[in-house]
Amino acid sequence: MEIYFITHNPSKFEEALELAESLKMAIQWKNIEYEEPQEDTLEIIAKKSCERILEKHSELSDFVFFLEDAGLFIDSLNGFPGPYSSYVYKTLGNEGILKLMEEKETRSAFFKSIVAFYSNEEIKLYKGITKGEITLSKQGQGGFGFDPIFKPDKCDQTFAEMTLTTKNLYSHRQKSLRELFTSLTV
Ligand code: IMP
Repeated sequence: MEIYFITHNPSKFEEALELAESLKMAIQWKNIEYEEPQEDTLEIIAKKSCERILEKHSELSDFVFFLEDAGLFIDSLNGFPGPYSSYVYKTLGNEGILKLMEEKETRSAFFKSIVAFYSNEEIKLYKGITKGEITLSKQGQGGFGFDPIFKPDKCDQTFAEMTLTTKNLYSHRQKSLRELFTSLTV
């Protein structure tokens, strides 16, 4: 069975590929850019994105594919930016988040990942959560997005300071994808 990961983000594909290969699974990259609907939950965004892709690319309805939507939820900001992470990253960036956090004593946050998997006219969702904290400054050059300001619990490195293999031990995306991949191998 050929399984496509639809994403415009090469880093997401690299993370997924490494995990898939470690589980002896094959995935292929479909670099399709799609507009994410702005909704209040990642679950709805992921499901609707899947539906939009199928509407626009009807040939994909015969394929098996998945996409993934993630967000950073900061406790002291009542879960902000959450489902608005993409927009907030583009507008405020990591510096803007650090500024919003300047006076905050509680720096706990979590990343959430929702995978929407399409097969046989059905969409199934898989979830992964990683808890951690927002650092006081940017640390590390690797990864993408909020990686330089997020340190998972029980780690002394941010995601941006980790190798891809180490990020894949802790990340939210690894958890949602592992759930999907293992469901396909049983
Ligand atoms: P997306 O909609 O899933 O692509 O992600 C929403 C926002 O969160 C984007 O600005 C991403 O750069 C950021 N993001 C998603 N996943 C990660 C991650 O694993 N690390 C850091 N930032 C991420």
